[in-house]
Amino acid sequence: MENITTKKKVMLSGIQPSGDLHLGNYLGAVKNWSVLAEEFDCYYFMADLHSITVRQNPAELRRRSVSQLAQYIACGLDPEQNTLFIQSHVHEHAELGWILNCYTMFGELSRMTQFKDKSNKNAENINGGLFTYPALMAADILLYQADFVPVGEDQKQHCELTRDVAIRFNNLYGDTFKVPEPYIPQVGARIMSLGTPTAKMSKSDPQGCVFILDKPEDIARKFKRAVTDSDTENCVRYAPAEKPGVANLMSIYSAVTGRSFAEIEREFDGKGYGAFKPAVGEAVIETLRPIREESERMLADKAYLQQVYTNGAQRASAVARRTLRKVYKRVGFVEKPF
Ligand code: TYM
Repeated sequence: MENITTKKKVMLSGIQPSGDLHLGNYLGAVKNWSVLAEEFDCYYFMADLHSITVRQNPAELRRRSVSQLAQYIACGLDPEQNTLFIQSHVHEHAELGWILNCYTMFGELSRMTQFKDKSNKNAENINGGLFTYPALMAADILLYQADFVPVGEDQKQHCELTRDVAIRFNNLYGDTFKVPEPYIPQVGARIMSLGTPTAKMSKSDPQGCVFILDKPEDIARKFKRAVTDSDTENCVRYAPAEKPGVANLMSIYSAVTGRSFAEIEREFDGKGYGAFKPAVGEAVIETLRPIREESERMLADKAYLQQVYTNGAQRASAVARRTLRKVYKRVGFVEKPF
């Protein structure tokens, strides 16, 4: 009943534990989640159901799901103020996911960029789940009647599809779902690979990707090797089309220090990339250091983490159940007698 009695707006988001959390996940998503708890009723989860659309090593998936929870908390998500849970523990996600499959069109799903990207990368395993993934994501969001979905730029298309599905369902059956909006940060919404600045930072490219739990020396090395630009200008200037590598480093520096692009240009005026790259590395190291240390401390306390995800699933399920019951009724299922 939380969100009804407190009347707070609802925030909800998730991350697939298909890899360790990286700087893109942090700057595009988690960093912004932690500042919202006071004002909103917040739900954040480990999207393990989504992860198996690509083959996973089962032991690794389990380990990463719990490690991701430790990292959420270390990033500032207080489990008392935020409902933190593992998606597969709340069976309503899979159930509503199935129903929404029946209200999501083949043509809509065919247009999804993430589906096209992942099918190219996993040509030997283009399974049904990969295709219908956005219907499950819509279920994740709509179950909690979320107002806002804080995500990076790449998830905007899925959020828009969620809105379309919610509106379609509401038009057929009367108001059932809140129509949510994506909530995308001004800076950091699309962090690019340090090795290939025209490609999104992603776990599938470990050299161009900085992980939250990377050791400081590894982070420093990755930034020193970061691709800047082939121009001879050697000047720190924000020009994304001409200088995508520098623009990406500036975005990262801006997101971790809070400085504007103009301030960064002034700071490195006449200093060149040789000074700029290690400075970005240092700023990232200092941002991630307390998060890594706190994650490691928490990972040693498995009982605590288990208690957090147990409480989280119970709280989440109580809310999800209400929406699902309403949906079952609307579509014409016979009320369960037990
Ligand atoms: P996922 O697991 O790929 O990414 C998790 C979050 O990190 C953001 N992100 C980035 N932001 C900036 N730069 C990058 N290079 C970068 N890479 C990833 C993503 O935008 C996302 O916010 N489908 C979702 C997971 C999901 C979900 C949901 C999200 C499942 N159900 C319900 C919101 C609500 C996904 O694959 O994100």
